[in-house]
Amino acid sequence: MSNNNVSLDVNYVKAQFPAFNDPLSAKWSFFENAGGSYVPNNVIERLNYFMTSTKVQPYAEFDTSAIAGDNMDQATNLFAEMINVQNDEIIIGGSTTINMYVLSNAMRSLLKPGDEVIVTNQDHEANVGAWRRLAEHGMVIKEWKINTKTAELEIEDLKSLLSEKTKIVAVTHCSNIVGSINDLKSIAKLVHEYDAYIIGDGVSYAPHGFPDVKDLDVDFYAFSLYKTYGPHLGLLYGKKAILDKLPNQNHEFLEGDVPYTLNPGGPNHEELSCLIGVYEYFNNLFEHHFPGEDGSVRDKIEKINELIAKHEQEIANPLLEYISSRDDIKLIGKNKIENKNRAPTIAFTMDNKSSKELSSDLVKHGIATRNDNFYAWRCLKALGIDVDDGVVRTSMVHYNTHEDVNNLIEALKKI
Ligand SMILES: Cc1ncc(COP(=O)(O)O)c(C=O)c1O
Repeated sequence: MSNNNVSLDVNYVKAQFPAFNDPLSAKWSFFENAGGSYVPNNVIERLNYFMTSTKVQPYAEFDTSAIAGDNMDQATNLFAEMINVQNDEIIIGGSTTINMYVLSNAMRSLLKPGDEVIVTNQDHEANVGAWRRLAEHGMVIKEWKINTKTAELEIEDLKSLLSEKTKIVAVTHCSNIVGSINDLKSIAKLVHEYDAYIIGDGVSYAPHGFPDVKDLDVDFYAFSLYKTYGPHLGLLYGKKAILDKLPNQNHEFLEGDVPYTLNPGGPNHEELSCLIGVYEYFNNLFEHHFPGEDGSVRDKIEKINELIAKHEQEIANPLLEYISSRDDIKLIGKNKIENKNRAPTIAFTMDNKSSKELSSDLVKHGIATRNDNFYAWRCLKALGIDVDDGVVRTSMVHYNTHEDVNNLIEALKKI
């Protein structure tokens, strides 16, 4: 069946997430997904199984330990297939922030004083601060600045910064404030023309569809698994040929054990293991929407990605339209989603009301949201927004509904 005839069955989706039946959670229209998403039953069951039956140190011969290790390996293998990379190219660390920090320490060995590193002021600080620290070692940091009228990064501005001295460009795939999806594939192509490394932050992108990382052709790519329906972990991809060049950041005797060398302390066992549940959830979505069909893990992800994109566009555009129609609300970023040019991560400020007051009012109306700078403080500063008060961010994923959006619009009408 072609995807055109299939729409996301959001009732089926919601039934997979126990939060929607939990008295504490279910009362909210949940708009804080860019902070962290709910988890489906499969993840909880896997976590419970690990903790109940296999909570021992993995990879020993006795069965409980061997099963624990097998499940951890299976989770890594499945995630590698989901994003179309090799299983020895991913690191499952504690968070994107720590993964970037370890990576930047390791990348130092490939650089020399005077080499240039380009960071943006649209990114979350996780993909800025770690790279800016290279200045302490003599590298020169350059900033690819947003157009302050549109909050967008423009490729012409990057071109004017690139030179034969450029060694690293760190840029977000999708801004956690502006919501815009940057054309990372084209940016990677351009950066590679200068023989520089490109590091993509996919944290705000991946919850809306796991990317084909090989197709993007970035050198490194990171996202946070707790925002993609899993536990509090971060995934870092690196091209094997580059990982092999990076010095060990782990115990001395683990030399050569790539990619473990970039994961000091190793992964959190139970959380890594329950990532199988994220795959199982997506597989369930595939089987529900495409009965009788089959395909590779990546094929299934791509088909579900399309359904998710269509659904998210349908629910987000009425909200974008409403917010844009209000003279007293300043929307950040594009006012319409078309061809997946924007995520349903919608940030705004209101005239004559602080973001703190606005978010409190929304919470009183049953909207789970918050105000903050969301650690994209350079972006807010550039836009002239008070970084302490920040913006109100209403972020959705595929389990959000038209009803959630109507609730938010009704709440905004009353405020
Ligand atoms: C775009 C973006 N990048 C990076 C991060 C940092 O992720 P983590 O909390 O896993 O360190 C976040 C977290 O909100 C984010 O939104």
